[in-house]
Amino acid sequence: MARTIIYNIKTLYTPYHQPPVRKKNLCDIKTISNAYIVMEDSKFIAFGENDYQAYWNDSCILIDAKGKICLPGFIDAHTHLVHAGSREDEFALLRKGVPYLDILRSGGGILSTVEATRKAGIEELYLQAKRSLDKMMAYGVVAMEAKSGYGLRLEDELKQLHVANLLNNDHPVRILSTYMGAHAYPSEYKNNHQGYIDSLLLDLEKIKQSKLAQAVDVFCEEGVFGIEETKQILSKAKELGFQVKLHADEIQAMGGAKLGVLYGAVSVDHLMATSDEDIIELSQSNTIANILPGTSFFLGKPYANARKMIDEGVAIAVASDYNPGSCPTENFQLITQLAANFLYLQEEEILHAVTINPAFQLGLADQKGSIEVGKDADLLLLDIPNLSYLFYHFGINHVSEVWIAGKRVI
Ligand code: NIG
Ligand code: FE
Repeated sequence: MARTIIYNIKTLYTPYHQPPVRKKNLCDIKTISNAYIVMEDSKFIAFGENDYQAYWNDSCILIDAKGKICLPGFIDAHTHLVHAGSREDEFALLRKGVPYLDILRSGGGILSTVEATRKAGIEELYLQAKRSLDKMMAYGVVAMEAKSGYGLRLEDELKQLHVANLLNNDHPVRILSTYMGAHAYPSEYKNNHQGYIDSLLLDLEKIKQSKLAQAVDVFCEEGVFGIEETKQILSKAKELGFQVKLHADEIQAMGGAKLGVLYGAVSVDHLMATSDEDIIELSQSNTIANILPGTSFFLGKPYANARKMIDEGVAIAVASDYNPGSCPTENFQLITQLAANFLYLQEEEILHAVTINPAFQLGLADQKGSIEVGKDADLLLLDIPNLSYLFYHFGINHVSEVWIAGKRVI
């Protein structure tokens, strides 16, 4: 059995409360100075302060962290990883003040990525997604969720899910897939929304049989999938045994968060416009409020009211929403910095929001999301003096080593 000891870690920071972590516990993390970590095969077997001699043997690999700090690997529980093309032309329109949903209504936006993704073959999609995935890992992401939703017909949705599945097998980053056929109405159903929903309800059975997705997501928004339409899809998804989640209240408060709670959603995401009433509903559930500050930043929109959510007892996470239309960046550290600056989160709250709470949301909390004996040996070494510095010195990559399941991958 291969044993690796990393020593001379200036400070190790990790969550330790049982997820979903809420309220004051979000500010309470374990901090160990002059730390060491012992990994055997793919798992943590010990960690502590100063003296690792009890774990040392002749065949150990010893690694000097040279005073870097150590964090658990980041978990990004909302991405649209697999897609073709890019939308810089549309960004120019957004800057002229054309609303995001108007671009979609006129056949652009999500639909222009659908056109490109339908045309692309498996290899092209794989290579584009892998390029992004490599960058995300370099910024410290060790596990993520990846949605389909740029096919909007069965064969192309399956193609996206297949690519995510190939990457999950080939790449060190763990990828969990979500089917999002309800991302927009494809142009062929522009005037027949119920027709699209009916075909999607049938497709859900095929997606289930394919075993390529564990969850179903719906873009629940005025002018996209309304509350009644969303209910039809969630009901069928639950009946088939999928986890469910929602893009909710991104632009208008329409009760998306409350609907998610009603359906036992693992998360409701965006929440830039969520009402106070829905925040109370969320606080009484295990549904994670998955906040995506990169999207607010890129679209120039308001930020979710994370402080109110935390005060009321909502369990929050922060994710990238990486996609070509509303958050085209692989820099997950920038996302955490936006969470500091615009969601007014404290450093310990951010750490929880990008590790253990998203691990819980993805059903991975027994394996990932904190440095704990028995969990996957996923960790980051960062060349910075302390945790605060990560959110202060923004826009660059502070991660110098990434370890996933006991292997150094960066
Ligand atoms: O989460 N809001 C809907 N879906 C994505 C954007 C997708 C796109 O514009 O391509 C989001 O922001
Ligand atoms: Fe999204």
